[in-house]
Amino acid sequence: MADVRSIVRGPAGAVLNLVCVVLIAVLPSCSGEQPARDPQTDIDPQANATLAGRNKSLPCLACHGAEGISDYDAWPDLAGQKAEYLAKQLRDFRDGRRQDPWMSPMAIVLDDQDIDDLAVYFSRIDGLSGGPDSVPQPATVCVACHAARSGEANPLWPSIAGQNRRYIAKQLGDFRAGRRTDPIMAPLAGGLTDQDIETLAAFYAGT
Ligand code: HEC
Ligand code: HEC
Repeated sequence: MADVRSIVRGPAGAVLNLVCVVLIAVLPSCSGEQPARDPQTDIDPQANATLAGRNKSLPCLACHGAEGISDYDAWPDLAGQKAEYLAKQLRDFRDGRRQDPWMSPMAIVLDDQDIDDLAVYFSRIDGLSGGPDSVPQPATVCVACHAARSGEANPLWPSIAGQNRRYIAKQLGDFRAGRRTDPIMAPLAGGLTDQDIETLAAFYAGT
């Protein structure tokens, strides 16, 4: 359909043009042009999510460290973790499928947009990666999904190489005891001894 301004001529058209001149400040579509793109924030949707996530991440930094690297060995690093995995965990905490006295209250206030923004932000910071190459006996079954070095195929299989040792050990204990549930991890952790858990945590932490 032709622009209405090209159809309406004469005084009525002049008025309409005047209205458009007034509206142009608030209604960019009036001019038929796209709103100006801010190169800082409008590069692509992922970049917008990263910026939004950074702004929303302030309450997280007390426990997960500035830039998503936790100072405390029992709490997880988030930097470099896969976005899909982070988002799933945040929804699990928010909806009560995963529980933790520190983390659950933090997640309860997040909406879906917050979760997606935070997940993209933390996933884009340099972090979890590396880890040793030689695999100790109890880890041979694990590396199918958690490669010794990051780069596993499935976005919902977390990177754990380089994660904090006591945090990994606690998660394996939680899966084994049924405090944290997952149809894949629970049976795998069920057969681990305390010694296996220590060996695996040290292996993946690289300590
Ligand atoms: C008061 C401390 C605290 C604050 C603040 C906090 N967290 Fe956590 N978070 C934790 C703890 C502790 C865990 C590990 C819980 C467990 O052992 O299962 C955790 C776990 C997580 C996990 C799961 C990581 C994984 O590898 O599975 C994500 C994701 C997460 N937090 C994101 C956030 C985000 C995003 C914020 C800010 C909105 C935040 N946290 C604020 C303490 C905190
Ligand atoms: C078939 C794939 C698969 C195998 C094999 C596997 N895992 Fe997992 N692992 C997963 C998935 C999926 C999750 C995420 C569960 C969730 O969403 O809560 C997970 C989560 C974890 C976590 C929690 C990470 C975090 O950031 O909280 C640890 C630690 C872990 N696995 C260690 C191991 C170890 C050690 C082994 C070997 C004994 C192993 N996994 C074998 C798929 C696997």
